[in-house]
Amino acid sequence: MQGESQRGTEPIAWLRGLVPEAVAVAAPILVERAEGVWLEDETGRRYLDMAAGIGTLNVGHRPSEVVAAVREQLERFIHTCFSVAPYRLYGEVVERLVALTPGSFPKKGVLFNSGAEAVENAVKIARRATGRNTVLCFSGAFHGRTLLTLTMTAKVSSYKRGFGSFCPDVVRIPYPYCYRCPVGCEPSSCGTACTRLLDEAMAGWADPEDLAAVVIEPELGEGGFVPAPPEFLRSLRDLCDRTGAVFVADEVQTGFGRTGKMFAIEHSGVVPDLVTVAKSIAAGLPLSAVVGRAELLDAVQPGGLGGTYGGNPVACAAALAVLDMMVRDDLPARAMRLGGRIGARLESWRDRYPDRIGDVRGLGAMKAVELVRDPATREPDPELARRWARACQDEGVVVLTAGVRGNVVRLLPPLVISDRELDEAMDRMERALGRVVARGGEV
Ligand SMILES: Cc1ncc(COP(=O)(O)O)c(C=O)c1O
Repeated sequence: MQGESQRGTEPIAWLRGLVPEAVAVAAPILVERAEGVWLEDETGRRYLDMAAGIGTLNVGHRPSEVVAAVREQLERFIHTCFSVAPYRLYGEVVERLVALTPGSFPKKGVLFNSGAEAVENAVKIARRATGRNTVLCFSGAFHGRTLLTLTMTAKVSSYKRGFGSFCPDVVRIPYPYCYRCPVGCEPSSCGTACTRLLDEAMAGWADPEDLAAVVIEPELGEGGFVPAPPEFLRSLRDLCDRTGAVFVADEVQTGFGRTGKMFAIEHSGVVPDLVTVAKSIAAGLPLSAVVGRAELLDAVQPGGLGGTYGGNPVACAAALAVLDMMVRDDLPARAMRLGGRIGARLESWRDRYPDRIGDVRGLGAMKAVELVRDPATREPDPELARRWARACQDEGVVVLTAGVRGNVVRLLPPLVISDRELDEAMDRMERALGRVVARGGEV
């Protein structure tokens, strides 16, 4: 028993002998159990989990409702493959998603396993339905690690290096990143000048007659928690209406209450044609979906969508329990209140360290701080972000960095976190920040 013999003795070194560094690890601990907002490692040390499986656990670790639903389903059947012998749970999840996603038109949905699969299939659906090829996506985007979604993903250094050639017909334009405005404006006076990038793209970089889909995260996730201005999203909707392209909102990270609405796109009033969801849909069980206009999904030939495990019954049972909790406990409203509490603390840190914290931003409970070497030049400080995240871990808090330059620290606490637990996590993060700033970034 190699694993048993090495318990507690440099467990990460043991893991690294087996799992390549390509599978990066944010917190080098070995988790033994988890409950609510807490992780416990093999040594019995407890951590406040402000990463929550990269936003997968909006309902927290192992809520009793989900555990009960999963147990009950395990007693009935684990797997049939929906395409072989379908079951009611699949339809019930789609029915709930159809009701929850924006748009009052007829909708349908297909279930998959991961966010990448959902995005990849949304593009397939858009291409099949429009008979066109071009996909418009954005700088800072993260849509997954399959070849098509990796093509659409924007961070080269860690995610893409050495994996080309990438897929053709994917065009990228700058994301409306207000702190680093792509057209050199200030948000207070810009009049959303970045929307002219859309005209430029259609004039020179892409053929509007071949535009199949526009795929956007309403708030960048891995790209550093950057919300798109509502006006920009409305311009994208206009572009899709003018050209006949499909508007795909990638809500894999922003979804299920995180931003204070069930889906982040709702902050803009824009109604997408397709929505991709995953992560927090099933409290950590692998499940994702594409939901949207029925006529688009119906354009695909039989057999064109699906997969062996997509919409697995145990994951579906978990999802139904999660969606019940979301509505019963009004978790989007809770996210809004949490976001206010988190935002106030982050702003107080910016006041204290104005030379290190360049930006505080994010919708609802999807908040982040951007660290810089100098607020005047806005030169990113990824080293400080990395050291702060490590110092947080020393204090017993798991947090993630983000951003194309890696200089953002983001918070994704379970939305069921109590005010007391949140304050405790923020106190610990504050101590960690004080330590790294005092030591010039050294921990
Ligand atoms: C917005 C977005 N889309 C897609 C994905 C890919 O999801 P998965 O890792 O489940 O394939 C992610 C993952 O972080 C994401 O944040």
